[in-house]
Amino acid sequence: MMKPVRKAIIPAAGLGTRMLPISHAVPKEMLPIVDLPAIYHLVEEAAASGITEILIITNRDKDAMEDFFDLSPEYESALLAKGRTEEAEKIRRIANMANVYFLRQKEAKGLGHAVGRAKSFVSDEPFVVLYGDDIIFSETPVCRQLIDVYEKYGKACVGVKPVAPELLTKYCSLKVDAVFGRDDLYTCDDMIEKPKKGEEFSNLSILGRVLLTPEVFDIIDALTPGAGGEYQLTDAMAKMAREGGIYALEFEGDRYDMGSKLGFLTANIVKGLTHPETAEGLRSFIKDLAGKL
Ligand code: UTP
Repeated sequence: MMKPVRKAIIPAAGLGTRMLPISHAVPKEMLPIVDLPAIYHLVEEAAASGITEILIITNRDKDAMEDFFDLSPEYESALLAKGRTEEAEKIRRIANMANVYFLRQKEAKGLGHAVGRAKSFVSDEPFVVLYGDDIIFSETPVCRQLIDVYEKYGKACVGVKPVAPELLTKYCSLKVDAVFGRDDLYTCDDMIEKPKKGEEFSNLSILGRVLLTPEVFDIIDALTPGAGGEYQLTDAMAKMAREGGIYALEFEGDRYDMGSKLGFLTANIVKGLTHPETAEGLRSFIKDLAGKL
């Protein structure tokens, strides 16, 4: 019988060099989107998808993430003493969204290596990976969208979007065939990480979410360094795609790359335009500014 998807991994141990200088003192996953760090949105998405066990892969400089998901008795009692009950409850809710575990990747050897650290946490269950710097705002949480495909077809499924040709060389490219009767679902039987010009299979690339089955760990264990000298998760998924086939879902949702300066800024604007404390002020500021651009 198919096992339910209860577990997620959030690799968040990368150095984040694209966000330097800030990222050497503040983990990029802790950069705020209005008043919540990026990593909060990932845990919330997983929890809202029915996932109860979440392993965050971290490193020696990123303890702030662990603190954020802990209780905060000092802040809670200060808020309660001032009668600010709702805010106190909000802090408590964050600590109780899911069972959140932490494990250090001792060296940043790539996303494949980071996911490989989760082998005993995952054991023999299907699981979702949420890339630590990819925030996706959607109607249905993207993890849930992937789980729905897994529950129907019983195979690994990666979240994809079309990517502009000039960006494909920085991402990956998938070899796909459309699933009959669906315009958002494909079967995938190969993929390539950071293709050079002419090596692309299609303009579909994985963006931020994948649902994998535990066979991937033996493949990860046997990986050799790939693009950029890193152990690439894409190389492991490519082997799964070639050997047994996987699915690719063009998910519904807007993705923001919090590992890039522009992604960080746009995510803040989009969220700021819906946040009750900032929406009105930000809207009129933007309108004003747009007139001067
Ligand atoms: P990126 O390639 O975007 O992250 O990895 P990076 O290496 O931190 O970024 P730059 O290029 O130096 O700016 C995607 C995700 O995988 C995690 C990152 O934290 C990020 O969330 N990752 C990457 C790890 O956990 N370990 C690694 O060794 C590499």
